[in-house]
Amino acid sequence: MLHYKTVSGEKITDALIDEVKALFDTSYGDWSVDHAPSANLAGQAIIFPRKKYVEYFRGSEEYVGECEIALCYDDDKLVGEAVYANKNTTRGMVALVVQLVVHRDYRRRGIGSALLYSIWGFSDYYAWGIVTSNPCTVKTLEKATYRQCSAIETIKNKHFLVREVLSDIRFLDETRDSWVVNVTGKTGESRIRTGFATDRQEASSALSEVESRLGRIGPKDEWLAFVFNSQEVTSDDGLKRMLDESNLIVRDAYMRMSAQHQKWSKQAEAEIDAILKMVPITVSASVCDFGAGSGRHVKVLKQRGFNNVTGIDFVTGGDCDLVQFGDCRTWKGAYRFDMILCLYDVIGSFRSLTDNRAILANIKDNLKPGGMAVISVMNLSFRGMGVAKVVGSQSDELYRALRRLKPSTNMADTGEVFDGRFALVDKDEGLVYRKEQFGGDDSRLRREMIVVDRRFTMESIQDLCRSVGFDIVSSRYVRAGFEAPPLFYRFWPSRWGKGILLVLSARRCIR
Ligand SMILES: C[S@@+](CC[C@H](N)C(=O)[O-])C[C@H]1O[C@@H](n2cnc3c(N)ncnc32)[C@H](O)[C@@H]1O
Repeated sequence: MLHYKTVSGEKITDALIDEVKALFDTSYGDWSVDHAPSANLAGQAIIFPRKKYVEYFRGSEEYVGECEIALCYDDDKLVGEAVYANKNTTRGMVALVVQLVVHRDYRRRGIGSALLYSIWGFSDYYAWGIVTSNPCTVKTLEKATYRQCSAIETIKNKHFLVREVLSDIRFLDETRDSWVVNVTGKTGESRIRTGFATDRQEASSALSEVESRLGRIGPKDEWLAFVFNSQEVTSDDGLKRMLDESNLIVRDAYMRMSAQHQKWSKQAEAEIDAILKMVPITVSASVCDFGAGSGRHVKVLKQRGFNNVTGIDFVTGGDCDLVQFGDCRTWKGAYRFDMILCLYDVIGSFRSLTDNRAILANIKDNLKPGGMAVISVMNLSFRGMGVAKVVGSQSDELYRALRRLKPSTNMADTGEVFDGRFALVDKDEGLVYRKEQFGGDDSRLRREMIVVDRRFTMESIQDLCRSVGFDIVSSRYVRAGFEAPPLFYRFWPSRWGKGILLVLSARRCIR
């Protein structure tokens, strides 16, 4: 099975460099018969010097060396690699792909695109680019960034690119003087002499299209293909796709959240104590935690003497053996519970009301008649969201605002999802949109995602609870720890509380 990861810094070991080199040497391509640097190389496989990889990843005396690598494996076998530099420049971040290789037997399976999208998918970068002679790769750059490569734009930025982006990246030929980034006639040329003479693809529609924007390249040249954030976006397809996927990526986003280390997750004991004061149950009661995450609440219940506790989550793999795999929308326990917890925005994880309602209805189905549920959801009226741009659900307006929305790394770093500077809010629907960036790791590529969650007013969550057959025992605004609001906010708790906590009782029959 194919799996991907991103590796950077010290994690790029000597063994990994050997693996990457072996893939390049067997799969990159052959020297051109007519234009090889020497006659004995003509038609031979191009070999990449190992010392160059060391330079890319670790630097040398005169070169900084800050490249990272995105990888694709088929089980243990390396089948795709993209070496890239994320340059922090005076104008913002620039992602430059330095090398892309896909194993000969694994081409046309979308591996190259998956690797490249992870490098170019960060919407707040100043520019994204590659040095390549493959027109299809240029088209992938355009698709990933929704902008068109044009020699004119590259030329406008030529000095900046040479000074701040390219000067540190030495290509095979190392002849820094031979960059050709110039304008000829109307179309212009954006090419670079790397000396990487391979036999080129035959004429194709992609080739003529790219030539019309970047000019023709000679046998020893490659295109210097760049797109810039300031360029107009040519299509909203990517945004549409990301929004359609938002329900599917919820799991991915939660998997990447390092919740255990985040501040909001440190109050489990106080929260369980507050719950046990509100719900009159004894330690013999059966309890299930829906969307249990790391299992922090079930662990505390166990410490408090509850023996029949379990948790479910669709992201598992932590150290808590009380949490098992299960989707809160559909999971059925072997028996019904006395109490079910569903804390910290599990209800609201989905964009569609149907999915969130399904979680609530399934909680009701898994409770004994008269059983109790304690849920918390995100408060739509929280004051911190006051600075968020308000949007309607009209798609044109939403796409325009989404394009301009600044991404954050909050979800990965702190779990703070109430920072209005990085959010759009559709108050009528109760939807909040964020662009979240996640770094790559040993099992995943870097990725920017649109995360959409559903937040509630006191009224709207109460209505939803009643609609699936719950009676509301109590409800209040809360923050982590579930303490009462400070005095000042007691008159205006809806502005203070990030969450709404409800104690619910399952009706014996639905009226
Ligand atoms: C913000 S975390 C809260 C976790 C936990 N309740 C806590 O307080 O630490 C939300 C959790 O809900 C889980 N989740 C969301 N929707 C789910 C679903 N449909 N089925 C199972 N788990 C779900 C996520 O995987 C994530 O672990």
